[in-house]
This record gives sequence, structure tokens and C-alpha cells, in this order.
Amino acid sequence: MKWNFDKIGKSLAAAVIGITAILTPAISSTVLAQGTAAVSNWTREVASQIKLNDSNTAPIINKEDLEKMSPDYLVWDTWPLQDRQGHPAVVNGYKIIFALTVPRDVIPGKRHDTAEIRYFYSKDGKGWELGGLVFNDGKALGSRQWAGSAFIDKDGKIHMFYTATGRKNETRLTYEQRIATTTGDIVTTNTTVTFKNWSDHKIILEPDGKYYQTQEQSNLGDLSYSFRDPYFFEDPKSGEQYILFEANTSGTAAERTCQPEQIGSIEFRQTHDTPEKAKLYNGSIGIAKASNGNLTEFKELPPLLEANCVNEELERPNVIVKGNNYYLFTKTHTGKFAPGLKGPEGLYGFTSSSLFGSYKPLNGSGLVIGNPGDNPYQGYSWLVMPNGTVISYVEYVDVEGKSIDEIGQESPEYQKEHFGGMLAPSLKISITQDRTDIVTEKKQGVFK
Ligand code: FRU
Repeated sequence: MKWNFDKIGKSLAAAVIGITAILTPAISSTVLAQGTAAVSNWTREVASQIKLNDSNTAPIINKEDLEKMSPDYLVWDTWPLQDRQGHPAVVNGYKIIFALTVPRDVIPGKRHDTAEIRYFYSKDGKGWELGGLVFNDGKALGSRQWAGSAFIDKDGKIHMFYTATGRKNETRLTYEQRIATTTGDIVTTNTTVTFKNWSDHKIILEPDGKYYQTQEQSNLGDLSYSFRDPYFFEDPKSGEQYILFEANTSGTAAERTCQPEQIGSIEFRQTHDTPEKAKLYNGSIGIAKASNGNLTEFKELPPLLEANCVNEELERPNVIVKGNNYYLFTKTHTGKFAPGLKGPEGLYGFTSSSLFGSYKPLNGSGLVIGNPGDNPYQGYSWLVMPNGTVISYVEYVDVEGKSIDEIGQESPEYQKEHFGGMLAPSLKISITQDRTDIVTEKKQGVFK
């Protein structure tokens, strides 16, 4: 048996101190119950340190210099076919990526309502060929599909995890989000990549209302709802398999108040004002553990990290391992920070020596990559590969100081002209302990 010192430390501390919070100036954790791991908090104190600087500001994107992935489709959240260890896979010489897509005539602000997963393949990992719809038999669950992750196993089976949003054939658009999986085979020729034999799609995760908020709880006064964006992760230390996902802390708005350990240290709390409305911001990074080898049964565990009173959407979480440390990444929008806090559209990250351990913010605040101040919506949905290469897509560029809500009110022509809908130049970050730095810009869609 392998001892988990972190966990032992925390449950002992909980037993001895008998209180709900253990505080350090940088990060805090909330002990759920005696004997269970603690949930790390992204505190208001930590988030108040967010600042763009030379190490974390993305270079300006010039949309005109870039290539569309396809003349016919807008492309946003993208994920590569990975191997079990999380490295981009090469199948008979092909690299494969999956992406959320809609036809280019859809108004960009409406793309989430009809999103479908398409795939692209490439021999050189630079120019991408559109393969088509991944699930072209109409069997995908949901009225639309949102982000996911995929890996190819040693036996050649593809495991796809995705978000089934709404219900198939619904007459009114709903925002129910469930996590689904299916497995299939990949077929390659000298010039093509196709998929076949997708198994029956199965819902594997829905919010339990205990660790993760249900839509019913959210509807009782919260601002937004999320239970989506599965990311498959096999822990190299334990060999166990997990799904990470974006969620919200359970309970209703009326039941919640901002707790000291969500705000920060005693010194910080003495001068910091937490507005009443901050309690509506309950973003969380969830985790569930596989209970069978087929990866069709998962058990929800307490979240890895929560941003209560800080941020309401911790999107597309993923984790990589470097040396002895876990690096947990998520992305969020500037408009999702609680009142009294400010952060750019960006990639944020945390590190810990144990998967369930106390996560410390990277760079003091969590900010790893932010859009530049004069092009604040230029990129989004950064995904960090195990080698530190980060992919993302081009969102809205050159919007002349407009907020995302204002962009949404603009004419369809304006939105289409300013929305990229294509992969952005990749970025390489260096990671040293709890510090990161943007080192270089690479070509669009490059994973290396
Ligand atoms: C981030 C995101 C994801 C979601 C998708 C829906 O770009 O909000 O969380 O899966 O977009 O289009």
C-alpha cells in the first residue's frame, strides 16, 4: 500500500483542530469530512494578484495572417487524439484532432446551440484535412455536443468522452449537461482517416447534488450552470483512471455564503471587501474515478479545486504531470470573475505534489496565459500538452474596446468578420516548479 502523506496530514489536522479550514497565505483548503481529502480553494486573495506581464501575455494575433481550418466551418474548442499518457497520438503516420464546429454561416455568438464534433487529420501536424463529423450516424447524445477528450488504447480502440448538452430532438433548447462516452475503431488509408463501429453512447456522469451542483439547484438563483468538458487522465503515480470536468459547487445560492478560507488570510480579510453577490460564483473542477477497466463506470469524488466567491466557470480542466508534480489547468472568461476581482480571458493553473493534494496557484495568482489588454478576446480554450505546448482557437479580434456582451449585440456581419473560428498559433510555455513563462509562439495547430 502506498501512503498518501498529504491526505493523512489533512485528516489528522481536521481531527486535531476540529475546524473546517486550514489556511496558508497563498492557498487554502476546505476539509469536507474527517478522513477525506481537502478541496483546494482559489481564493480571492490569490486571484487579486492576477496581472498581465511579459511572462504571461499572449502575443497579438493577426487573424489575416492565419489559415482557416476549413472554408465551411467555424472551429473552436479543440482536442487531439491522445495516448493513455496524454501525449498526442500518431496513428499510421496521422495526427488527429477533434473540434467543436458549426457551419460558417452560423452567427458566432449562437454557435454553442448547434455545436457538433468534427475531426481533422494531418501527416505533418501543420496543415489539417477535414475528415467530417465524428458521429455521422446521428447517434451522438444531446441536442448538441460540447467539449471532450479522446485517447487511443494499445489495442487500437478509440475512447471518446464528450458533453451531451440538451436532449436529442428537444423542441426548446435546454442546457442540461451530461458526460457521455463511446468507443470506436479508426481506419486509415494512404490519404484518409475514418472512424467506424462506435459503441452505444453511454452517459457516465451527471451531477450528484452533493459535490456537484445539479441544474435544479443552479436554477434557484445562480448565474450559470456547468457540468461539462470531460478530460481523461491516467495517473502515472497510481495507474488509476479519472475524468476531470468543469462543474459548480453544489447547493443553492440561498444556502451559500463566502467563507473565510475562500477569501484569504486574516490580514487580507481585514481590508478586503467581499461583495454580497460574490457568493453566486461557484466554479469547480470536478473529478470522478473509473470503477471498471472499460471506462464506462465512474464514481464522483470531491472536487480538486473550487473557486467559490472567485469565479463561476472553470472550463475544460486538464492535468499534466511533470517530475513529481501535477499541473492542473483551466480557462475562464474575463466576465466570469466575481465582483471586486479582475482577470483576463486566460489559462490559469495550479500545482500540487499529489493529484488530490493542496493545489498552489502558478505564478502566485494562477494566471499562465492571458490575452493582451488591447485584444482582450483574441484567443480562448487553451489546452496544455504534456510537453508544455498550448493550443487554442481565435475568438474575437480587433473589437475596439467592446465587451463580449456588446459584441453579442452587434450585427451577424460584425460578429462573423471579427470571429476567428480557427486554431490560433500555438504557444510554448516553460514550467519550473510553480512558475511558468511563455517562451515561443509556434505555427497554428502545432502540438510539438
Ligand atoms: C469553452 C466552452 C466549453 C464548452 C463549449 C461549448 O469554449 O464554453 O466549456 O464545452 O465552449 O461550445
